[in-house]
Amino acid sequence: MSIPPAFLATATEAVLRAGEIQLSYFGRGVRVKKKGVIDLVTEADLAVEEMFRDLINSRFPSHLVLAEEQYKGDAIKDSQEFRWIFDPIDGTTNFAHDLPIYCSSLALEAAGRLEVAAVYDPTRRELFTAERGGGAFLNGIPLKVSTSEQLVDSVLSTGFPYDVHDTIDDVVGLFAKFTGQVRAVRRLGSAALDLCYVAAGRLDGFWEQRLQAWDIAAGALLVEEAGGRISALSGGKFNVHAGEVLASNGLIHDAMVAVIKDHTEALD
Ligand code: IPD
Ligand code: CA
Ligand code: CA
Repeated sequence: MSIPPAFLATATEAVLRAGEIQLSYFGRGVRVKKKGVIDLVTEADLAVEEMFRDLINSRFPSHLVLAEEQYKGDAIKDSQEFRWIFDPIDGTTNFAHDLPIYCSSLALEAAGRLEVAAVYDPTRRELFTAERGGGAFLNGIPLKVSTSEQLVDSVLSTGFPYDVHDTIDDVVGLFAKFTGQVRAVRRLGSAALDLCYVAAGRLDGFWEQRLQAWDIAAGALLVEEAGGRISALSGGKFNVHAGEVLASNGLIHDAMVAVIKDHTEALD
């Protein structure tokens, strides 16, 4: 399917506008509500999402929008249409605590395939973009994944899902397993930025489970377009709606799969 250039232009415009709204609230005592025991939403998340829905409705009224804050939990079907997958703030916990590690993350899926990605970190003014087959870029400069070949020379990142209180052995157990084999494991609090950093070669790999499509859609395309590899935690085919991701520079991918397999077998 050929993707008109207007789609990447709109994606870029949307995340840059999202960044302006985020900065207008950041560090000024934003109002926060709890969606779950540790899952937050701020007035900034809602304002950014409203801007985004208005933008897509006015520009492409026939397109679907899958965005976090107004998502009603309905099943996500394979789509023959254009669907924008948007996280108004990825890293809301950081945002609500005045920690400057957050972004907005946007991907366009066409006929069920991710085609366009844009992620913007307003704190660092870093705009990550990709189009399928066209490469990945940071502020217009091409991105390439890292060249680490061994786990022991690798820096990884992960995140903990919002059910971590009930899944601590699994989540922290795997964290511990990787920590024992790599140079370092980081935990930044924004899955979208974690994936952008794999694309940029700042991180060698990233894994996380029980995510949503809006956390990973844009970052997954960025990693692939920067020459990296994306899969399920088992090493099988990646599905953006399946809620888990393993991303790497490709060279350490099989070694990461082996660590995860070991951990999963030990849990059973
Ligand atoms: C969260 C972040 C975090 C990850 C969580 C996500 P949110 O998204 O990406 O890094 O560990 O699993 O839900 O709630 O800040 O949009
Ligand atoms: Ca998110
Ligand atoms: Ca979010």
